[in-house]
Amino acid sequence: MSVARSVILGCGSALPSHVITNDDLSRRIDTSDEWIQQRTGIRERRIAAEGEFTSTFGIAAARVAMAQAGVAPDDIDLVILATSTPDNTFPATAVTLQAELGIRRGAAFDLQAVCSGFVYGLTVADSLLKTGQGTRALVVGSETFSRLLDWEDRTTCVLFGDGAGAVVLEAQRGQGAASDRGVLACRLRSDGRHKEKLFVDGGPSTTGTVGHLRMEGREVFKHAVAMITDVIEDVFAQTGLGADDIDWFVPHQANRRIIDLSAQKLGIAPEKVVVTVDRHGNTSAASIPLALDVAVRDGRIKPGDLVLLEAMGGGFTWGAVLVRW
Ligand code: UT7
Repeated sequence: MSVARSVILGCGSALPSHVITNDDLSRRIDTSDEWIQQRTGIRERRIAAEGEFTSTFGIAAARVAMAQAGVAPDDIDLVILATSTPDNTFPATAVTLQAELGIRRGAAFDLQAVCSGFVYGLTVADSLLKTGQGTRALVVGSETFSRLLDWEDRTTCVLFGDGAGAVVLEAQRGQGAASDRGVLACRLRSDGRHKEKLFVDGGPSTTGTVGHLRMEGREVFKHAVAMITDVIEDVFAQTGLGADDIDWFVPHQANRRIIDLSAQKLGIAPEKVVVTVDRHGNTSAASIPLALDVAVRDGRIKPGDLVLLEAMGGGFTWGAVLVRW
């Protein structure tokens, strides 16, 4: 029997041009390049300039993804923007993308799952395509976390960056084999008991302000590896595939130590791990599609490769997606 599967037709990304290095930060606050690199693996991050918004990077990344996919605006039925830094409280920034990209059909909405946003967005798009709500979806992760940071707080401001990544998905019929292209398995989780470990201390309904990001870094770190590896074991069990079958591991880029420990625990070889946290910092929902785009453009990820995505972040939310590129 033939089944529908969401196949990735193309990807793209966009970054602000303004680079801030660790040394730049150490001139403003009590930190050092050595501390940041040792604890996180971050060397530099990109920061949005005045007049650049979450939509600016989302639109640019989507344009590249649509060009690579060879699709026109009229071909897209669904726009999902994963972000925690929308241009405005409402309407959804996804409708700005929709309008600017000339997409007139279907539906557009924002999805808020913090750093897990792209994995959540892919899962939702995959479900909607599989149930016939459309044929092609644009899934974008775009963030301007620099606007949420307390630039006096050295425990958080050194960690994050701005940018966007996007993919175009198309529902295609196939036999449902593990060798067929497309999303093979998705798993999402959350546990609201941890919501105060990583949060923003403002919002439209509470303070009427945007607020600043606050994090108990050590607490988040403590849970991250176990949550990530657990949900990945779940997608392995669901598909009968395992660490040896993976061609590329593209994790959320929060901290090099979390990435390395997760890969090690899963038994994924270091040369299969895509790392961009050194150049981008933690770009939250944008980090996975940004890393995917880097690895596609430098020739590492090729059609037919088995790619494992995972993320964990505020909420806590976490999840994993296994995709045959
Ligand atoms: O994407 C969402 C998920 N987020 C994450 O995955 C983040 C998870 N957490 C982490 O990545 C790490 O916990 C951090 C990178 C945030 C911190 O690393 P850590 O090894 O857990 O350091 P720590 O918080 O235990 O702090 C160690 C020391 C402290 O000083 P004392 O108390 O030992 O004297 C901090 O005050 O490092 C100090 N410190 C800094 N020193 C220089 C904290 N931030 C800085 C800084 N520069 N920027």
